[in-house]
Amino acid sequence: MCGIVAYLGENNAYDVLIKGLKRLEYRGYDSAGIALIDKDLSIFKKQGKVNDLETTFSGKTPHGKVGIGHTRWATHGEPNDVNAHPHYSSDKNLAIIHNGIIENYDSIKKELQQKGHQFLSETDSEVFIHFIEDIQKNNKCSLDEAVRIALTKVVGAYAIVILSKDNPDQLIAARKGSPLVIGIGAENNEFFLASDATPIVEYTKNVVYLNDEEVAIIDKTTGINIKNIEAIEQSPYVHTLDMELEAIEKGGFDYFMLKEIFEQPRSVADCMRGRLISEKEHALLGGIRKHFNDLVEAKRIIIVACGTSWHAGLVAEYVIEEFTRTPVEVEYASEFRYRNPIINKGDVVLAISQSGETADTLAAIELAKNKGAIILGICNVVGSSIARASHEGAYTHAGPEIGVASTKAFTAQLTVLYILALMLAKEKNTITKNQFLELSRQMESIPDKIKQVLDLNDEIEKISTLYKDVRNFLYLGRGYNFPVALEGALKLKEISYIHAEGYPAAEMKHGPIALIDKEMPVVVIATRDSSYDKIISNIQEVKARQGKVIAVVTKGDALIPSMVDHVIEVPPTHEAIMPLVSSIPLQLLSYHIAIMRGCNVDQPRNLAKSVTVE
Ligand code: F6R
Repeated sequence: MCGIVAYLGENNAYDVLIKGLKRLEYRGYDSAGIALIDKDLSIFKKQGKVNDLETTFSGKTPHGKVGIGHTRWATHGEPNDVNAHPHYSSDKNLAIIHNGIIENYDSIKKELQQKGHQFLSETDSEVFIHFIEDIQKNNKCSLDEAVRIALTKVVGAYAIVILSKDNPDQLIAARKGSPLVIGIGAENNEFFLASDATPIVEYTKNVVYLNDEEVAIIDKTTGINIKNIEAIEQSPYVHTLDMELEAIEKGGFDYFMLKEIFEQPRSVADCMRGRLISEKEHALLGGIRKHFNDLVEAKRIIIVACGTSWHAGLVAEYVIEEFTRTPVEVEYASEFRYRNPIINKGDVVLAISQSGETADTLAAIELAKNKGAIILGICNVVGSSIARASHEGAYTHAGPEIGVASTKAFTAQLTVLYILALMLAKEKNTITKNQFLELSRQMESIPDKIKQVLDLNDEIEKISTLYKDVRNFLYLGRGYNFPVALEGALKLKEISYIHAEGYPAAEMKHGPIALIDKEMPVVVIATRDSSYDKIISNIQEVKARQGKVIAVVTKGDALIPSMVDHVIEVPPTHEAIMPLVSSIPLQLLSYHIAIMRGCNVDQPRNLAKSVTVE
């Protein structure tokens, strides 16, 4: 939520900032703005997208060599020009960009107002920079010291970068809870700061991840100096980015979402590479070694996640319980963190997150850690906060996911969770050698099966034309396909704004069946598995009430096609891993419907990719 970017070097800061903001736009697109120092410190900001900012100020921005930029997902104050970042201090000598929330901003604001500060915006971020300014003036200290003191007093989450007119060769940055990466340019006197590595990777692969409660002074002459909140110097650790520029470009596709859907044969294969080898009976997540025994001995596994990642957790519950006989509970991180959950010695928590920055999931991890649980993180973004807050974990290696709707990250999460279940089951001796071989061979054939589903793209597009104007959709599935129904409904509603609900198919008769009439499309995931006969009954219940059924069936099924309005045939696989296949046509269906409705599928309204506020 909110993307921040900053540049200090010898080139035109404006160009670097605008390009960076476009890469970060998936984090929020309510408004965009930049601040540059030429002689003066000037701010240019605008409600809307980065393109609007560019058009409005085309040819009007100075050629500064230092600057900061922000793309906003509104929290405090409606999306408009005034609430857009950057924000000035009262003397206009400082400007701030901020990603996060300052919870006690109201009391600080009142104090500052009594001292005569006037605020232009409704944002907590403007209060933050006035507060820093006030501390600097009262204490007659350096800007970084004022920032450090301010951080001891503010409650909340932040990643900030501050630009000072008096010191154009320097940027001050700090973080707690919201991410911040510092890229070091080849000449060592050029620096790029951003919420994630995507604006940095085309300039340098050398980065420093700022830790929580650290303040960084980035200076053209002295480089990067980091202090913690107690003013103790920290040594920056320089990581090498494992990311290529092509991974964050559209590569000929109209939208990132479509590119990411089509990347899945590769991303699932990448995720499995070296970790699962059927012929060697090998299943190993290299990142889970020290605590693997805790997992084997666990009395209970608790999965915490949000949104699509929570759906991956639901599939994992079924799989882990089936094959390892360890009890699993799946919790919405936002509920878990506020309900004093029981965590016993020997419980292991799996935290699943694409971004690795989701505030509720992070808070759930901290709570579980404080109660003594071992945390294993399953994240896509390398070096993210959740990855670092976990004791150990496994990356999903799906590559950057830029479309706001999660697609390839979901299937990569499932892949890691299947491997985890297999390595655990093998160690616990809860599956036979034949079962292990059968499942791991089926897993190895998944990339090819996903390809076969992607070949149905045109067919799915045709079905989409018939339903693009409906107001509601129902998604039904049973067993392993129940979470797929939830995920299909979420995908449709978030990018097309059609109301959609997912249900376990048998639950339909306990209420949702009242909604069924000839106007209601019902997507039924009805692949051939142990609940096949039961789901046929559910299809008949829908048809008896004239609902329109789009059925996802196993290739060669002769029965269901005779009952329903449309079929999408997917290749057969073991029922436990069918979600890796059956979720793909639902991603395409949502994509096409949303495109036909004129929606921007990469940037759906009100959403942001990385939810760093609770
Ligand atoms: C839906 C979607 C969201 C995320 C959720 C959790 O397509 O992307 O529901 O799954 O916000 O995000 P992560 O996985 O980054 O913790």
